[in-house]
Amino acid sequence: MMKKIGVGLAITSAAVTCAVAAYIVSRRIRSRKNWNHTLSILQEFQIESSLSISRLRQIVDAMTVEMHAGLASEGGSKLRMLLSYVDNLPTGDEQGLYYGLDLGGTNFRVLRVQLGGKEGRVIKQEYEEVPIPPQLMVGTNEELFDYIATKLAHFVEKEGDGFHPRPGQDRELGFTFSFPVKQLSIDSGCLLKWTKGFAISDGIGKDVVQSLQEAMKKQGVNMRVAALVNDTVGTLAGARYWNEDVMMAVILGTGTNACYVERAEAITKYQGETPKSGTMVINMEWGNFWSSLLPKTSYDEDLDSESLNPGEQGFEKLISGMYLGDIVRRVLLRMSEESFLFGTEVPPSLFKQFVLRTPDLSKMHQDESSDLREVGRILKHALGIANTPLKVRKIVVELCDLVTERGAKLCGAGIVGVLKKIGRDGSTAGSRAKSESGRAKKTVVAMDGGLYEHYPNFRRYLKETVEDLLGEEAYANVSVELSKDGSGIGAALLAASHSKYN
Ligand code: GLC
Repeated sequence: MMKKIGVGLAITSAAVTCAVAAYIVSRRIRSRKNWNHTLSILQEFQIESSLSISRLRQIVDAMTVEMHAGLASEGGSKLRMLLSYVDNLPTGDEQGLYYGLDLGGTNFRVLRVQLGGKEGRVIKQEYEEVPIPPQLMVGTNEELFDYIATKLAHFVEKEGDGFHPRPGQDRELGFTFSFPVKQLSIDSGCLLKWTKGFAISDGIGKDVVQSLQEAMKKQGVNMRVAALVNDTVGTLAGARYWNEDVMMAVILGTGTNACYVERAEAITKYQGETPKSGTMVINMEWGNFWSSLLPKTSYDEDLDSESLNPGEQGFEKLISGMYLGDIVRRVLLRMSEESFLFGTEVPPSLFKQFVLRTPDLSKMHQDESSDLREVGRILKHALGIANTPLKVRKIVVELCDLVTERGAKLCGAGIVGVLKKIGRDGSTAGSRAKSESGRAKKTVVAMDGGLYEHYPNFRRYLKETVEDLLGEEAYANVSVELSKDGSGIGAALLAASHSKYN
């Protein structure tokens, strides 16, 4: 009897061992299958988002073609190529007290600057920065303008010693408004659309300066808005004040955009008097650039269709700070759903739009510790995913790299497209850009925005792309430089160079 039981137990335990072994093997196979699927999702994304040098060259050409089209006629291209009416860039001679107001991202800024001409330059400046309350980004035009006018009024009240307009002159203000505006003059223009997550219920078609001036009146601020400018234009002016080789400015922040100095005769759609300088700054609104050459994946399609402005700002959605983190999130979500990257349950946070921010990407991407500690920390704190194995962290870093590389390369191609258009890319048209000494002119591209400033890998990819596309010789005459926080002061400088007292 005992023997029988013993045999029975032995058989049962052998069966259990077999079953456990089979289970372990099948789990291993399943987990290997899952892991392989994760890798294949990664690889597919890599292939779809990759940009060869020849593809980048085609994008450069597409950019110049669209620039021509946008300059030729209203609505000629998705690139709006908006006239800024800035034909008088600051030279350094400006004098007196000017105010600046800078609105367009998550923060807005008020500032004043006392200018002392070529000798004194910026004698004194002060600024205050305030976040835009999120509810105002989805409220009404009037609420938004009332808010900024209130902040401006408080700031003006605090004007102290060392600030004074020139005798007999009133205070003037430059307004940086970083949305697409169709300008009719340097100090007026109608809003074309809201971008970058602003979902204000009205304001489109309204004169922006009038909105501001009405709000200022309510607050008792008596100041003339002498210049209305885009942030790219403000940045260009701010950088040009110090260096006359600056020909182009690019913003890489929440959104992305570029402006540059164009010859007036190249702007066919411009009907006004030829400016004395013979040039005008063009606000490209390149965030809306589109070409079938751009590497759009299914993740980008979903991001676009779920955005506040579907079908618009396609270039921006591949490049700028508002969107990069969300592209990574979308790929992680798919990996998590289809191949259990973070275990059997999909972390609920991965369903939330914009939960992964671009500053998080930058930190994870820069993590050089052997166990990718920072990546682990951010996955835990931003997404609530704890105890991630190293190989999972590596996938996350790889994704940050792919998304960043694509965005930076596209921006680099955009820059080279503009340089090509103005004959500063070292190619045939470059003869226009020879200085009197017969040597090629220097060209400075002024860069601003948090993405450029705080994401070293993005910067590196961007500069490498510009260098690869231009070639060593032409690149030696081009300098891509950070011009920090120039857009507000640039607007104040433009108020000075377009002052009614000039
Ligand atoms: C968006 C705006 C544009 C602005 C850019 C950078 O693309 O439409 O006007 O210059 O963001 O802030």
